[in-house]
Amino acid sequence: MTCKSYATSVPGDCQGTQARQVNVKERGRVTISEVARLARVSLGTVSNVLNNPAVVAPATRARVLEVINATGFVRSTAAHQLRVGRSRTVGVVLLDIANPFFAEVVKGAEQVLADRGYVLMVFSSEDSAEREHRYLRVLEEHRVDGLLITPVGRDLERISTLARRGTSTVLLDRDRGQLLDLCSVTVDDVRGGELAAAHLFGLGHERVAFVNGPTSIRQCADRQRGALRALRMARRDRPAGLTELVMAGLTVDHGERAAAQLLALEPTPTAVMCANDLLALGVLKGLSDRGVRVPDDVAVVGYDDVSFASMLSPSLTSVRQPKYELGAAAAELLLEEALGPGHEHRAIRFEPELVVRASSGAGRR
Ligand code: RIB
Repeated sequence: MTCKSYATSVPGDCQGTQARQVNVKERGRVTISEVARLARVSLGTVSNVLNNPAVVAPATRARVLEVINATGFVRSTAAHQLRVGRSRTVGVVLLDIANPFFAEVVKGAEQVLADRGYVLMVFSSEDSAEREHRYLRVLEEHRVDGLLITPVGRDLERISTLARRGTSTVLLDRDRGQLLDLCSVTVDDVRGGELAAAHLFGLGHERVAFVNGPTSIRQCADRQRGALRALRMARRDRPAGLTELVMAGLTVDHGERAAAQLLALEPTPTAVMCANDLLALGVLKGLSDRGVRVPDDVAVVGYDDVSFASMLSPSLTSVRQPKYELGAAAAELLLEEALGPGHEHRAIRFEPELVVRASSGAGRR
């Protein structure tokens, strides 16, 4: 026989035990004490059901879970965090989450962390040291368990201090350098810049332009170094030239503005490499708006190989970064450090890959 009231109640065992009603709707949030009372167990047993269910007898565990479901009990993160000192939250601070590169990186990290019960708090620093500083303070106040960050600028002292105070930290898309108390996950951007420029010089182009972002952004500075390395190689057997346009940002809008500047150069470059695919998209639009044909008049190469690169017309040749893998590897390092003893800080570096498509006209020259 099952006795069941029609308020928010708990099906009782009915053998002389009156099911007690907890009218959640009137009283608001149910406490863990109320769950324990309704399930006729101790507070510790409810806590074990939530945090270490294997130690609770199946019948008792089922009864507690039935009360939790019937009352709509939700664990207080703040209370939980105070008790166990872990928030099961990871902070992520990237340069620009609107950039599909970083969106894919976050996706990789989220997949790994969500599988282990963590949630993310994601912020864009927009390459502003002030915003980064503000977000790091917020994340520290939330006592996040870990931090994935693409740092702004070169000074990593604040990030290193956070790590020393116990927030597991992994540098994303930024090498840790001499900071051996941190992990880092990067892609070899010097090699990536070299691949893009060498591809265009290798096609016979002698006047190549490089539409770059601010070289205060380490990724842009490294891509520049790689392009100059390719230029030195190309000049061994022909009068190759590289003109760099340093834009104030790395967006589609900056790429469109660069297109106008490219066509004002004398002589006009016959090939353009861009520091990322958003710039390349803007360059393609700017050239097309001015009747310039790609690749017939000007070959174009991007960087990142984000999801839209293969869908453009012409499809975009780009230097592929393993975006998802970058985020997943950073998350694995974070979990290894946060959860397991004996973690060794290390730097993981992925290799970029040139993906040749129609926009560079490979084989046409
Ligand atoms: O945010 C600037 C660029 O650096 C991104 O497009 C990506 O390439 C990162 O590595």
